Amino acid sequence: MCGIVGIVGRSAVAGQVVDALRRLEYRGYDSAGIATLEGGRLERRRAEGKLSNLQIKLLQNPLSGAIGIGHTRWATHGRPNETNAHPHATEQLAVVHNGIIENFRELKAELAAEGCVFETETDTEVVAQLVSHLMRSGLGPVSAVEAALPRLRGAFALAFLFAGREDFLIGARHGAPLAIGFGDGETYLGSDALALAPFTNQITYLDEGDWTILTRDGAEIRDAAGHVVARPRQTIATQAFLVDKGNYRHFMAKEIYEQPEVVGRTFAHYVDLATGRVALPEALPFDFAKIGRISITACGTAYYAGLVAKYWFETLARLPVEIDVASETRYREPPLEKGGLTLVISQSGETADTLASLRYAKAQGQHTLAVVNVPTSTIAREASAVVPTLAGPEIGVASTKAFSCQLTVLLCLALAAGRARGTLGEAEEKRLIDELIKVPGLMAEALKREDEIEVLSREIAKARDVLYLGRGTAYPMALEGALKLKEISYIHAEGYAAGELKHGPIALIDDAVPVVVIAPHDATFEKTVSNMQEVAARGGKIVLIGDARGADAAGLDTLATLMMPDLDPVVAPIVYAVPIQLLAYHTAVVLGKDVDQPRNLAKSVTVE
Ligand code: F6R
Repeated sequence: MCGIVGIVGRSAVAGQVVDALRRLEYRGYDSAGIATLEGGRLERRRAEGKLSNLQIKLLQNPLSGAIGIGHTRWATHGRPNETNAHPHATEQLAVVHNGIIENFRELKAELAAEGCVFETETDTEVVAQLVSHLMRSGLGPVSAVEAALPRLRGAFALAFLFAGREDFLIGARHGAPLAIGFGDGETYLGSDALALAPFTNQITYLDEGDWTILTRDGAEIRDAAGHVVARPRQTIATQAFLVDKGNYRHFMAKEIYEQPEVVGRTFAHYVDLATGRVALPEALPFDFAKIGRISITACGTAYYAGLVAKYWFETLARLPVEIDVASETRYREPPLEKGGLTLVISQSGETADTLASLRYAKAQGQHTLAVVNVPTSTIAREASAVVPTLAGPEIGVASTKAFSCQLTVLLCLALAAGRARGTLGEAEEKRLIDELIKVPGLMAEALKREDEIEVLSREIAKARDVLYLGRGTAYPMALEGALKLKEISYIHAEGYAAGELKHGPIALIDDAVPVVVIAPHDATFEKTVSNMQEVAARGGKIVLIGDARGADAAGLDTLATLMMPDLDPVVAPIVYAVPIQLLAYHTAVVLGKDVDQPRNLAKSVTVE
């Protein structure tokens, strides 16, 4: 992960580098650093912790160089302290790095044998030492980087700054994204276009294996073989990059509240409102009727969206789905039928394991369909077809609006598949679209429960463990609820299929364990009520997220009942996302946790 920035500017660049890093903090926030040339001399400022610590150092000890590189770190190799913070430097150069250099131990041993002395525990320092070593042996900076790159294994993006060279930076991409931005007499490098949005909307993405020499007049791009290549320049809609909390205390709260709007925007993209039927804006390069099975792969919250979709594809389209987390899929190397379909789901479009699974599926001759939120991402560019979620930039590390938009797109796909396979009649499709159209309004209703949820969160905040239960599509929602709670409040939480409770987890139940039961009044509701009785009989405190019909029928004493609006159970996951997100959010706020940047996490997981 980590975010990297480089600027060849006209005047002092430190402020701009910090601005860009602020927009990359979602990629990691364990430490941050910057290097510039001060009268040709390399100068660094680095600080452990958030970017604000680096800003304080820069105020105390400013930098005035017109060329510089910066980094915000999510630690992989070495503790997140100042010594291990990037940029890493030698006498000749400074380097920032996103990703992992897998063969760093071998290279380190080789360089140490040549007399190089290492100061840090990081893999990145090996890159700095390797290029320096090549320069000491007589190569210029460009030739030294060119000679070093083929020696590095792993997935990485790099930016180099050289002592005495005010005129250029070098960037390289190998498995981790890197974008070039073109300004007026200034050129920029960044892990994504979002970082560069305050400076320019003219962006070129490097392809795999590309590296670039960046000057004030532009950029020369070379491919892995060293040939100068042209890559397209795109004009990016900068308003899509507005990153502002508005009147909200946290990005997460803002993003939860944006959901009625972005879910509405997303389904309007896939539904013909005139006919009330699904209408995908672009034809898919395969026919659902001819697909024997879908393989879904994703990570974390996106994986849970995929698990919900499994129920939808199987019930609405009678289409078998196998699903696995991408970190398993990629190494499990499942047999995939040529001409079959792999569906990948990713907010960032950069998750390393998801990308690797996509590439594996392509190599097996599968069609690859990507549900992504960042349209310029690597996954979006490499998949054979893309169905975007239109959630807009998601800044809070815990995914909220991207998840509900993923669900929305996946339901539209399942409806399209049902129609293509003849398992869903026109009347039923239109009825379900009608239900989907109501979803933004239903989410707005669900948001009105916020005050009750805030009160409840004070109880949840006292718990050491919380269980989440659900059946059918509420089962993946239980998994998602538990993930949301643990990642931002640090309370241990687990989600279970309600029917599995008696096969082990019930041993955990006592009066100190809140059990959040997600139970819209659907076909399995009565079964879930039995499970709630089992919890109640053991003193467990039940929080029911359900509807009036269900709450009446259950007739149980609960710690709280969060009443959701009446709805068709098919669309329930999208609406029920709201209370589980709000519960996690308020619990974390009560506990005083860093909601938008929880410890040890990052928004874009570009390492394995
Ligand atoms: C949890 C969360 C993560 C991501 C996961 C996949 O709130 O955000 O679990 O869902 O890291 O990320 P993407 O969707 O970018 O592939």
